Amino acid sequence: NPDPVSLKEEIERLKQERDAIILAHNYQIPEVQDIADFIGDSLELARKAATLDNDVIVFCGVDFMAETAAILSPDKTVLLPAAEANCPMADMITAGELRVLKERFPDAAVVCYVNTTAEVKAESDICCTSSNAVKVVESLEEDRVIFVPDRNLGSYVARFTDKEILPWEGFCFVHDRITTLDVEEARRQHPDAEVLVHPECRAEVIDLADEVYSTSGMIKHVCTGPGKEYIIGTEIGILHRMKKDCPDKECYPLSPQAICTTMKKTDLSRVYNSLESLTPRIVVPEETADRARKAITRMLEVR
Ligand code: 13P
Ligand code: SF4
Repeated sequence: NPDPVSLKEEIERLKQERDAIILAHNYQIPEVQDIADFIGDSLELARKAATLDNDVIVFCGVDFMAETAAILSPDKTVLLPAAEANCPMADMITAGELRVLKERFPDAAVVCYVNTTAEVKAESDICCTSSNAVKVVESLEEDRVIFVPDRNLGSYVARFTDKEILPWEGFCFVHDRITTLDVEEARRQHPDAEVLVHPECRAEVIDLADEVYSTSGMIKHVCTGPGKEYIIGTEIGILHRMKKDCPDKECYPLSPQAICTTMKKTDLSRVYNSLESLTPRIVVPEETADRARKAITRMLEVR
């Protein structure tokens, strides 16, 4: 592999040669965020992936995000530089388990968080992300909703709807580990700071927060809000973007241990290798992709 300085130049060269674009999630390591063409939360990344002209999409994130891009753009080459970068929560429900639930509650609509496999999306009526979950649930005619896999996002949505939410017992190990003690301690250390948390946090943590946002929602709030100090209750990779986009604000991690290990698997040399070899490529079988696409595009139509 080239040295770190020429690595960036080589990535740039290969990007032109391959007609590639680099998309990165807000949790990616700083070097990866800095070479990305577009950084965002899950919904922004899905919207972006749906509108691109490039032949190649390099997805710096986790598998379900790259799968979503591949489902939306089946004729493009979608690369996930770190092939093993999965989202453990997405693997907490299988399509078979969801089918059993659907048989038990035949009158319920199925909403799946975008943090799911393509097979689970294929069994769902509509997807949602952390930024549109309430709107998606409210867009449905059914009064009962099977909500998979995140129990915390499910119970957060239940606060804002009269519909009956039947949540699956999945969770994100990064957010579920954040405790009310973390919030109390952070508030003690930074008494003037506003506390923002992700809806994947536990209900009792959400109760103590000032605001609840998706990752990009947090960035927007910090950059545009009147406050000067913020305690950020999500994966700490987001702090790099906050420092860059809103340099006049002070942001502190709610929990310095909030690290998503698989989000950190992507680095510059893997991006380079991926562009060079056009692997590891994410391909979703056509029949699954066609069914999953319906749930994703239905979500993208909810405004
Ligand atoms: P966002 O869509 O808010 O970026 O969340 C993605 C995610 O995986 C949170 O853990
Ligand atoms: Fe999955 Fe949690 Fe990592 Fe997000 S932070 S990708 S939900 S494990």
